[in-house]
Amino acid sequence: MKPRQRLVANLKRLLAPGMRAYAAAPGESPVEVEANIMAICAAADAGKVKISLVNAEGERIAIDARHGAIKGAVKGDRRATAAVPTPPAASPARAPTAALGSLFLRAIGLGNADGTVSAQNAKKLKQTRHLVELLRPAWEAALAARHEDRPLRVADLACGNAYLSFVLYDALRAEGIACRLHGIESRPELVKNCEERARALSFEGMSFATASIRDADLSPLGGPPDLVLALHACDTATDEAIALAVRAHAPALFVVPCCHAELARQLKGNTAASPALSRHGLLLNDYATTLTDALRAEILDAAGYAVDVVEFIDAGHTPKNRLVRAHRRTSPAPGRSLACTLARIAGDGLNPALARFLGGV
Ligand SMILES: C[S@@+](CC[C@H](N)C(=O)[O-])C[C@H]1O[C@@H](n2cnc3c(N)ncnc32)[C@H](O)[C@@H]1O
Repeated sequence: MKPRQRLVANLKRLLAPGMRAYAAAPGESPVEVEANIMAICAAADAGKVKISLVNAEGERIAIDARHGAIKGAVKGDRRATAAVPTPPAASPARAPTAALGSLFLRAIGLGNADGTVSAQNAKKLKQTRHLVELLRPAWEAALAARHEDRPLRVADLACGNAYLSFVLYDALRAEGIACRLHGIESRPELVKNCEERARALSFEGMSFATASIRDADLSPLGGPPDLVLALHACDTATDEAIALAVRAHAPALFVVPCCHAELARQLKGNTAASPALSRHGLLLNDYATTLTDALRAEILDAAGYAVDVVEFIDAGHTPKNRLVRAHRRTSPAPGRSLACTLARIAGDGLNPALARFLGGV
């Protein structure tokens, strides 16, 4: 079958009422074309050979008009794309973004130009939205505890592309809650992206800085943070975030740790729990991961925080799904002091980053 015949046959088979069609020349952004065979063939003749058909559920079917063959997911295949609402006909700055419209998702770098979201970004989006809901009691408590009418202050540490920040800010904005949100990230190119995206969305309460968490200046918040976040901050960057929150007396801290390399290295020569740990790297790493988070919880508890450690989303979305949630206690809890706790940990031959960072507190 010739390419054009194959293209027409596939379009006949796939086009259905309610579908949208997009066409793009290689390397260019897609533009919407009429979802009928004639319009799509005309776009292909004009060089826009990469065709996408998007159904009402947001499922995408990609066809390459150069050979007429289906390239991507077929109808009903949810693996390659995820459902997103139909794009509203408004600019990103004015779009009703709390509904997570596709223009908003595109503006923050999670959505594709044709209104779909890749499978990987769909996972990120699900994690982010879920985390924003878990944060709700903390932001509501912070708002209730304010002594003056001022914006909520949020620090997102190791923010990366700041998807969490954007989705959170958007959710707060939709509820009429003023927010100052400052993101700290060590990679300047990501900070630049975040700044451009915040500007494009007119999210004026958002700011970003290139810095290591350890040297972070949170003065753009206009006061101490109400909420400190660190989602998947690499290795000991999570400890830097916890230490910053403790030093700033932040009322609430949410961290989802990422990799846990530091304690595994220390444990190699010190596996008092079982010599078998030294022989099996996988077990040593699992043990070090759990121990690292257990020590973080213990240190936070001694530093005046009520802590719980929960799985925040099922492991199919991300294996790094352990959330350490801490709220500053209003009255001291009985138990060991921070100094005693750090001394006990050192007595076990362990020197975790968080103990070093909080040693002088
Ligand atoms: C795995 S990404 C997570 C990004 C974002 N929080 C998210 O969940 O999408 C970790 C980010 O932390 C940044 N990072 C690592 N160590 C850091 C540090 N000490 N200070 C600031 N940023 C750091 C990296 O550049 C990277 O962008």
